[in-house]
Amino acid sequence: MEKITRILAIETSCDETAAAVLEGGRALLSSVVASQMDMHARYGGVFPEVASRQHVLSILPVIEEALTKAKLTLADMDAIAVTRGPGLGGSLVVGINAAKGLALGSGKPLVGANHLEGHIYASWLYEAGTENPPEAPGFPLIALLVSGGHSEIDLMTGHLQYQRLGATLDDAAGEAFDKVARLLGLPYPGGPSVQKAAESGDPKAFKFTRPKTEGAWDFSFSGIKTAVLYTVRDLEKAGTPIPVEDIAASFQATVIDYLISKTVDAARAHNVTELLLAGGVSANKPLREAFLNLQNNGFKVHIPKFAYCTDNAAMIAAAGAFRFMHGHTSGLDIDVLPTWPLS
Ligand code: KG4
Ligand code: ZN
Repeated sequence: MEKITRILAIETSCDETAAAVLEGGRALLSSVVASQMDMHARYGGVFPEVASRQHVLSILPVIEEALTKAKLTLADMDAIAVTRGPGLGGSLVVGINAAKGLALGSGKPLVGANHLEGHIYASWLYEAGTENPPEAPGFPLIALLVSGGHSEIDLMTGHLQYQRLGATLDDAAGEAFDKVARLLGLPYPGGPSVQKAAESGDPKAFKFTRPKTEGAWDFSFSGIKTAVLYTVRDLEKAGTPIPVEDIAASFQATVIDYLISKTVDAARAHNVTELLLAGGVSANKPLREAFLNLQNNGFKVHIPKFAYCTDNAAMIAAAGAFRFMHGHTSGLDIDVLPTWPLS
């Protein structure tokens, strides 16, 4: 009988301390995320020094909880996967050192994983015991990766094979949500706040032009954000109350339309019919709906379960598992890679 690979994964790239246990590359046995969101809310964003200190406090209890929930021990694992980057250096160091310690103590191989690859592999996950597991994504596929630090469109020709077709020239999509939230006086974290405000707004109330880029599949979000800024400023100057909900809805609709149309264009240009959505912004409900609707246009669509959209270790376990199954392991001398690209 073929042996099933079991991976313990650790993720500390930003402000979530997370650990997970995965079997066979897809079946999730446990996923634990200790969020620091409340701690950073008072700063209006992630405070790196606070994040790394909090990771130090949470990391071991989170790993223990992940193993306990999976009803397994370190001895049952085949490898330990950990995020090397991209992310905050001081935060990544905590996860890497914990993983190295566990690998050294247990004699298990270490697998350094890319956080962005993790977001992509979130679409392979399902909870162990699921009766009819979803079909795994097939290749070639076009991935729309939209998070707080990255926004890009990639062509995946096989497992772990990426060709970047386009990327943001300035802000990331999630960053634009966070900045617009701040402009509108909405609470941190910005993405969910904008989505909530937009629910009671008119998406056609304001017209924010989608910036043109030289590269057909590149993005620019800072122009849309600046258009929101000028709108708010003009209304304030005129003494008009700010229609926060309408602005949030119009901004969100513009961004979604922009993301979807570029993804579809890239897919058509490359004769690809399989699409994958990834990154924290994939938690956005209207974006998920719009992406899912592409099924009606002849595309096969993959969207991670809501719980695995924003940062978690389950996705790192999946990416780490595929790396490990393809023969990749890392030495105990690996360092963090805060700006590590996907391709
Ligand atoms: O992937 P992620 O958790 O962290 C990074 O790797 O960056 O993404 C976080 C980003 C933040 O900018 C956050 O505002 C955005 O994802 N986000 C959302 C939503 N939930 C999270 N953006 C729009 N709508 C949401 N519901
Ligand atoms: Zn992320």
